[in-house]
Amino acid sequence: MIRLDIDGVFAHAGEKDIAGRATAAMDALSSLLRREGAGSEMLGWLDLPLMPEKQIDEIAETGKRIRGENDCLVVVGIGGSYLGARAAIEALPFEAGFPVLFAGNSLSPVYHDRLISGLEGKRFAVCVISKSGTTTEPAIAFRLLRRKLAETLGPRAVADRIFAVTDPAKGALRRMASEEGWKTFSIPPDVGGRFSILSPVGLLPCAAAGIPIEEMLAGARAALGSFSMKSAENDALRYAAARTILHERGTKIEVLSTFHPELALFCEWWKQLAGESEGKDGRGLFPASTVMTTDLHSLGQLLQEGARDILETFLVASRPSRDLTVPGDEADLDRLNYLSGRSLGEINSKAFEGTRAAHESGGLPVVTIEVPSITPGSIGALFVFFEIAVAVTGRMMGINPFNQPGVEEYKSRMFGLLGKPGA
Ligand code: PA5
Repeated sequence: MIRLDIDGVFAHAGEKDIAGRATAAMDALSSLLRREGAGSEMLGWLDLPLMPEKQIDEIAETGKRIRGENDCLVVVGIGGSYLGARAAIEALPFEAGFPVLFAGNSLSPVYHDRLISGLEGKRFAVCVISKSGTTTEPAIAFRLLRRKLAETLGPRAVADRIFAVTDPAKGALRRMASEEGWKTFSIPPDVGGRFSILSPVGLLPCAAAGIPIEEMLAGARAALGSFSMKSAENDALRYAAARTILHERGTKIEVLSTFHPELALFCEWWKQLAGESEGKDGRGLFPASTVMTTDLHSLGQLLQEGARDILETFLVASRPSRDLTVPGDEADLDRLNYLSGRSLGEINSKAFEGTRAAHESGGLPVVTIEVPSITPGSIGALFVFFEIAVAVTGRMMGINPFNQPGVEEYKSRMFGLLGKPGA
């Protein structure tokens, strides 16, 4: 389902060099599968694609109920408690159709005021997601949304509109849910935020949006089967080895370039996964992204001729889920008739091929990750591919990919400035 092409890095990290890291990559994978090594207490994500059917059904049923009883759903969460669901929902909009809005992923008063004003007169549910249950951004947005619900509904009806996804036992959100009688789902304690998309964190909003979550999990299971193989042919390991060698040789940035705007949020999910997992101890590729061909008219210049410390990884689908053809025009004043009758999908894929060749000839190492088309199954598979590749890269770089000690620094300063008791 996922095809990897790393030929475009061989001028920078030779085929033999990459093959020479196969053992190290396989060792890193083996230690993950044996639940050993740094961060071994946070490896529950490897089990998520194998979730019992009963649990999948409960999530799917709740999603259906949310869709049936409301005009829209507001998902409250930030970081790993937000990006995966939004990535999948934006990638698969035509399978969906039920509006899913997002709150609590910033402290913007303008964004939240607009969102809440837009909910006026609508029947809406709130899915609040926080593993710790104490993260400031979602906690504030959740208060605002609860007040909005309470303006028109009595306490029992408010409780019926709230769905909480949090730790099974600990935290403020779990306590509030028990006291108020909200429907809840648990985030396994051994699954960290950015590895939680295939838990209720990602699956419940996806189910509410109308995405067939069982298909997403089937794609994830197939990918887990392929990319947990201890083999030099394992593409997640080859990709991890290429990234590690390039990083050691001076590559500082990895740009994930997609030719499908519907994958823009998927790129944001990947940026969080890679950045928060690998950016430690002075190490880590800085993950960036571009959406083509839009960015060929801006960042394309830098990718072609700027600093040569970038790895460009193309994320593409060979077949679009729907297509259009360019209409003919008798006058042909725009000189476009050479494209008449040809599909936008074909033109987009030629733009991709041309861009990859141009950037490679400009001296960038390039990788291509290709799926046949963007479906629930291929999105599920991509989640697992990147999770394994990032976890293996982190282990090969010698860091713990599963913690994020650096994110506390801004919080303690912000809390001090805000006068939080005890800060
Ligand atoms: O990957 C992570 O662990 C983080 O990005 C968290 O998901 C994010 O900080 C939100 O945390 P919480 O779910 O506790 O509100």
